[in-house]
Amino acid sequence: MKAVGLTRYLPVDDPEALQDLQLSEPGPPQGRDLLVRVQAISVNPVDTKLRAPREGREESPRILGFDAAGVVDAVGPEVTAFMPGDTVYYAGDVTRPGCNAQWQWVDERLVGRQPTTLDAADAAALPLTALTAWELLFERMPLRFDDRHHAGQHLLVIGGAGGVGSIAIQLARHAGFTVIATASRDATRAWCTQMGADHVIDHRQPLLPQLQALGIDQVEVVLNLADTDHYWDAIGDLLAPQGHVGLIVEPRGALRIGDPYKAKCIGIHWEFMFARARFRTHDMIEQHRILNRVASLVDAGELRSTAHTLLGAINAANLREAHRRLEAGEVIGKLVLSGWD
Ligand SMILES: NC(=O)c1ccc[n+]([C@@H]2O[C@H](COP(=O)([O-])OP(=O)(O)OC[C@H]3O[C@@H](n4cnc5c(N)ncnc54)[C@H](OP(=O)(O)O)[C@@H]3O)[C@@H](O)[C@H]2O)c1
Repeated sequence: MKAVGLTRYLPVDDPEALQDLQLSEPGPPQGRDLLVRVQAISVNPVDTKLRAPREGREESPRILGFDAAGVVDAVGPEVTAFMPGDTVYYAGDVTRPGCNAQWQWVDERLVGRQPTTLDAADAAALPLTALTAWELLFERMPLRFDDRHHAGQHLLVIGGAGGVGSIAIQLARHAGFTVIATASRDATRAWCTQMGADHVIDHRQPLLPQLQALGIDQVEVVLNLADTDHYWDAIGDLLAPQGHVGLIVEPRGALRIGDPYKAKCIGIHWEFMFARARFRTHDMIEQHRILNRVASLVDAGELRSTAHTLLGAINAANLREAHRRLEAGEVIGKLVLSGWD
């Protein structure tokens, strides 16, 4: 089968950073695994972080890729939720070979049925970021998705135009929040508005004065989807007492969790989308349920795909270009690749 992988950790402009490969196809799936024929993928910062230049060499090629849409070819003996021929989408498990290959094994508990109203490319844009945003908002934080429960409350999304921000804006709007997103360019500002943000402010400028100019003195919830250390003090200042901050980016240094966080009783919540798969938690199957719920919401017209740019077929050259754009910080929504040359 065709695949794209690496044996050395090299700068993205090195042609060997990601290479086209011909590998043997995976055998029949075992246990609760599905064997999926990958049709489309999207690319995430986790791919660039895992590929980042460092010493060391892999004896067999390492396959990255943690967002896929495809068709089930075969099911393991313990699989109950899927059959061959089902169209599916998933992020998968960062501890196993990824989806930058024509076939991949993935545990059914991490897989959802693909939205019927999206093609594979638009579906592949969603799983990793939708799981991240959903788990952060509605599992880690004490927030509710249904019934515009949070009407009258304000939620700030720092890094609104990125992959996670694009779906987080939609979910928060659906839950009733007035959503303020941050973006620093005309194109990313426009994208945040398209995703449903009520207001867009600039993360390159101090945040609180921009909120005050909108008549908003404090917000109940902040999702910091960018540099955790950089925004930490500003977030403490603009959160309302008993508010919540959600974090997804590893800090470079120690975070000061005393005042104003302590004085205001701020809830601090971490999300790591691969935690369930990595630790094989008893509730891994929640990712199956979340992805099915997201698919239903997409098919009902309540959520839309966050795909922004289709880079072409799945091959090493296009994947290197995707990594280059992610490393440059210039991505809007999701970068998607579809089909095999
Ligand atoms: N813990 C988890 O489970 C988890 C899951 C997914 C992602 N992540 C991490 O979360 C981060 C965001 O992921 P993503 O997929 O949304 O990334 P992304 O798609 O690459 O984000 C790109 C966006 O980030 C914005 N941005 C760049 N620098 C910024 C800054 N200093 N402050 C605020 N926004 C900035 C840019 O907006 P402008 O062009 O407007 O500046 C750009 O549109 C990454 O570090 C990723 O590794 C963690």
